[in-house]
Amino acid sequence: MSIITNIEDLRQRSKKILPRMLFDYVDGGSYDEQTLRRNETDFDALQLRQRVMVDTSGKRLGRSVLGQSYALPVGIAPTGMAGLYYPEGEVVALAAAEKWNIPYTLSTLSICSLEQLRGSTDYPFWFQLYIMKDRAFTESLIERAAAAHCSALVLTVDLPISGQRHRDIKNGLSVPLRFTGGGLFDMMLRHGWWRRQMFAKSKSFGNLAGMASAENSKLMGLAQWCASQYDPSLSWDDVAWIRKLWKGKLIAKGVLNAEDARHAIDHGCDAVIVSNHGGRQLDGARSTISSLRSVATAVNRQAPVLLDGGIRSGQDIIRALALGADLCMVGRPYLYALSAAGPAGLDTLFTILKNELEVCMALMGIRDLSEVDETCLENPRYFSREY
Ligand code: FNR
Repeated sequence: MSIITNIEDLRQRSKKILPRMLFDYVDGGSYDEQTLRRNETDFDALQLRQRVMVDTSGKRLGRSVLGQSYALPVGIAPTGMAGLYYPEGEVVALAAAEKWNIPYTLSTLSICSLEQLRGSTDYPFWFQLYIMKDRAFTESLIERAAAAHCSALVLTVDLPISGQRHRDIKNGLSVPLRFTGGGLFDMMLRHGWWRRQMFAKSKSFGNLAGMASAENSKLMGLAQWCASQYDPSLSWDDVAWIRKLWKGKLIAKGVLNAEDARHAIDHGCDAVIVSNHGGRQLDGARSTISSLRSVATAVNRQAPVLLDGGIRSGQDIIRALALGADLCMVGRPYLYALSAAGPAGLDTLFTILKNELEVCMALMGIRDLSEVDETCLENPRYFSREY
């Protein structure tokens, strides 16, 4: 791992290791990938304010969110099927989150189940929920999350229907993975990946096991069942319904503007995540960093505001905190790191982010992240001008 100096290096490593079909699934976005690109490039517009001759020895990078103290202002976003990129990927990622004392979110569509994660450690984790057409099944997932002592339920609100990803169609992506023609040749060359996956214990959607009918119990059946379960009739009433069932902390993931953030708070959510699903849903939607300031203003410190989408450095994290985020989450960077080298890859990722944060703070004269606000940016209103 010696030549890895930034997240792009982890991405390149992941690209070499994963079969093309899997790498594209992680790396890609919906349709023309405009929003995916904007999520990253919009960060570049925000200029950091250099300050000199400030004693920043003993910097404090900790953050407290929803009653829990974390060592870094960054957490792991929910991503489906992490166990296909690295054996027991979700368990490995939770162990890394515990080691680094940061939040971890398990996806509904994970390979390892809620129970497997809880069995692996006592460290608190969050569970991401899709509200499915089968409301009884949705309810059972909530009960299982409560039984697994999940410290928060992350309700994804931006997927009433699935956006199309051209790369996946062109690569013939299917679940379970089926490699044919050029894809098969490509996969055979990735021996690092297929050798380690041969020994993976978990290969199906862990949280869906046992609920489907016999013909659905195979991975293929479960994937199709899932796709048919997204519900275009979703509304804020469903959030109110979830609020009644789940007594713990509730986080709405996928708001991109002030109105929706207000709806989330008014319907009982304890926090919001500014997110566009990593540019995988509405292509053409604005970037998350450009939406953040208006959401934070609307929430007006009544609840924590988190952000994901396009975070690729410690500098990006500082930019997001300056515009009102309490914590940032990373999706793809974590999957690049996991697929590149499992636990060692995740250590590299969080070492990089921590080092970048520390250097950034020193060069900006920041002693404690609680000091970070709009004055840390030269142009904090950059996006307000445009929208
Ligand atoms: C996701 N994301 C996601 N979100 C969610 O709520 N449930 C899920 O199961 C998934 N699955 C998923 C798979 C993959 C491969 C990716 C890349 C993303 C979205 C994810 O939680 C997060 O919003 C974005 O990944 C954030 O953007 P970055 O950090 O990837 O730029």
